Amino acid sequence: MAERFLGRRFYRGGNFQRALSIEELRVIATRAVPNFALEYVEGGSEDEQALAWNRSALDALRFVPNTLVDTRERHQRIGLFGQTSPSPLIIAPTGLNGMLRHHGDAALAQAAAGVGIPFTLSTVSNMRLEDVASRAGGRLWMQLYMIEDRAAARDIVRRADRAGYEALVFTTDANLFGHREWDKRNYRTPGQLTLPNLFDVARHPRWMWDVLRHGIPWFDNLVDFLPPEAMSARTGVAYFPKLFVPNIDWDDVAWLRDAWPRKLIIKGILNPADAGKAAAAGCDGVVVTNHGGRQLDSCVSPVEVLPDIVSAVGDKMTVIVDSGFRRGDDVVKAVALGADAVMVGRAALYGLAAGGEAGVAHALNLLMAEIDRTLGQLGCRSLDEVHPGMLVGGAEK
Ligand SMILES: Cc1cc2nc3c(=O)[nH]c(=O)nc-3n(C[C@H](O)[C@H](O)[C@H](O)COP(=O)(O)O)c2cc1C
Repeated sequence: MAERFLGRRFYRGGNFQRALSIEELRVIATRAVPNFALEYVEGGSEDEQALAWNRSALDALRFVPNTLVDTRERHQRIGLFGQTSPSPLIIAPTGLNGMLRHHGDAALAQAAAGVGIPFTLSTVSNMRLEDVASRAGGRLWMQLYMIEDRAAARDIVRRADRAGYEALVFTTDANLFGHREWDKRNYRTPGQLTLPNLFDVARHPRWMWDVLRHGIPWFDNLVDFLPPEAMSARTGVAYFPKLFVPNIDWDDVAWLRDAWPRKLIIKGILNPADAGKAAAAGCDGVVVTNHGGRQLDSCVSPVEVLPDIVSAVGDKMTVIVDSGFRRGDDVVKAVALGADAVMVGRAALYGLAAGGEAGVAHALNLLMAEIDRTLGQLGCRSLDEVHPGMLVGGAEK
């Protein structure tokens, strides 16, 4: 093979609009925010096996396309909880978005509203849920971590209801906080960055101006429930794991079903038996997830167990999947395996870090263009036409 004159490398500047893929956006994001903030976003737990396997499990699936199908009239619309969505994408709940951009939660919500897909706000967001609702509009879902003080959960349920959130997403896979060792190594002591990381922060004046001039972001949804020493994101990160209590159970789901009037989704399901319990408890949907590889490390990848969960409850509930989705063809694979929709976490966060709201919009548009292209190249006019028979490979049973 002939040598390449210039070699292959990603665009090296800071203009996120030039990113041709989520990976290229990630490379731009690595320059835009300090190392410790990016590590918090990227990292997984312990040896990061689940994180890596999320990607390999998706990569192992390959399509067998149809040919000679007229695909001029194609679309990626889906029905989601009684409404039409222009794409099967949903922005996943992620905490501490204010570390990447000031008012990062609103930027994500506004970008989602711009393309017409749902945005899920985390309990540990850096903006109050009411503020996000008043700025963004669109389809807003509220994620719930049930922390030690159940009064906080009652407060969030009541406020999200009053603010008109469409769905409540109860996260159940963080009953014990994942041990993200690479994240911890950036700190000398909890909340105190190491010297190299402090120098690295100083090398990001634009980030400092954007984020730090507004003060270190707070966990605004929980202000009434946290002790003062936990209130800022800096000290709160250290305090955070203490918030999570391993005593959540199906009684909490029953209580939520009673207290929450609209769509209730359980996020953290990885086996058909639990999916069945969620259906029996009157939930409207599940998110099949391993929290993006940030919790249990030796954990199956959601796409491996997706088909069994779809056969168990797919006719009773909406089945959403996440963890590791970086390309439109990943999304089409999940839909072929029976998922109704796909949540993206980091893919949207790379956009946020690289370019704020417009960067998130760019990330979503890249994914949507890829979904569209994949459909066309598969000889499909819509996501209704993809099915498991179009896939080979995947995990051994
Ligand atoms: C930086 C970061 C913060 C997260 N915070 C939350 C959270 O507050 N609540 C939650 O339910 N899931 C949280 N998650 C998990 C995501 O909702 C989602 O399951 C995961 O990001 C999907 O994997 P992906 O990032 O590979 O798309 C977080 C994930 C990341 C990367």
